[in-house]
Amino acid sequence: MEDKSDLYSTRLKTFGRRQGYKLRPHQQQLLDTLLPDLRLLPPENGTMIDTTAIFKHPVKQVWFEIGFGGGEHCAAQLEQNPDIGMIACEPFMNGVASLLTHVDKRNLHDRIRVLDDDARQLLDVLPDNSLDRLFLLFPDPWRKKRHAKRRFIGQENLDLVARVLKSGCEFRVGSDHMPYIDWTLEHMTQHPDFEWICEGPQDWRTRPNDWPPTRYEQKAIRQGKPCVYLRFKRK
Ligand SMILES: C[S@@+](CC[C@H](N)C(=O)[O-])C[C@H]1O[C@@H](n2cnc3c(N)ncnc32)[C@H](O)[C@@H]1O
Repeated sequence: MEDKSDLYSTRLKTFGRRQGYKLRPHQQQLLDTLLPDLRLLPPENGTMIDTTAIFKHPVKQVWFEIGFGGGEHCAAQLEQNPDIGMIACEPFMNGVASLLTHVDKRNLHDRIRVLDDDARQLLDVLPDNSLDRLFLLFPDPWRKKRHAKRRFIGQENLDLVARVLKSGCEFRVGSDHMPYIDWTLEHMTQHPDFEWICEGPQDWRTRPNDWPPTRYEQKAIRQGKPCVYLRFKRK
């Protein structure tokens, strides 16, 4: 298999800082003890990840979250869907510690695997058609024009998503940043492998019942910003 190490060094970073406030002792303890147990790394021997063999509990579907932030959505989806396993990626270590706290409190250990780094490292090594759902919720908007090329949504990353997502399955994108919404719709509708699921004018303005809230979404709502919930089907 092709060596991906060059890709990692040449790809533009889509995330900002990796560390924020000092972690509480319990959070640090979870990073030291639970994370090594749940961590999913790209295989060193260059093989693909067998998504049917990575969870301790048998699962019927494998979902994937890019940039889970504090992990609220991820934990809620696992609780509401006892048949799924989740691969969750986030390079911001305070967010990873927060997700591990949810996992530990809510006993979700058997159906989650975590990468504390760039999600693309795992997307690269997932087999074709191996995911049943993919989430990109409130991605970093990279507001300045000269930074727009760092946005996760772009031709190269969408090709990756299209390769790993099963036909008929959903890619969900939420945002409160209207230029990013326009950017997303432009890229997604131009991509030959996706179709926008839009059943009416209210469809994308209201969060679906099976889409738990995230921290960034709640913050946007408190600030009076409208949020948009987009669902795309892999053709
Ligand atoms: C604005 S925050 C939103 C967090 C969360 N989804 C929410 O809605 O509360 C975007 C997050 O995506 C993460 N991120 C950005 N690029 C990423 C990538 N390539 N792989 C994994 N996470 C990424 C950032 O570290 C950041 O925590």
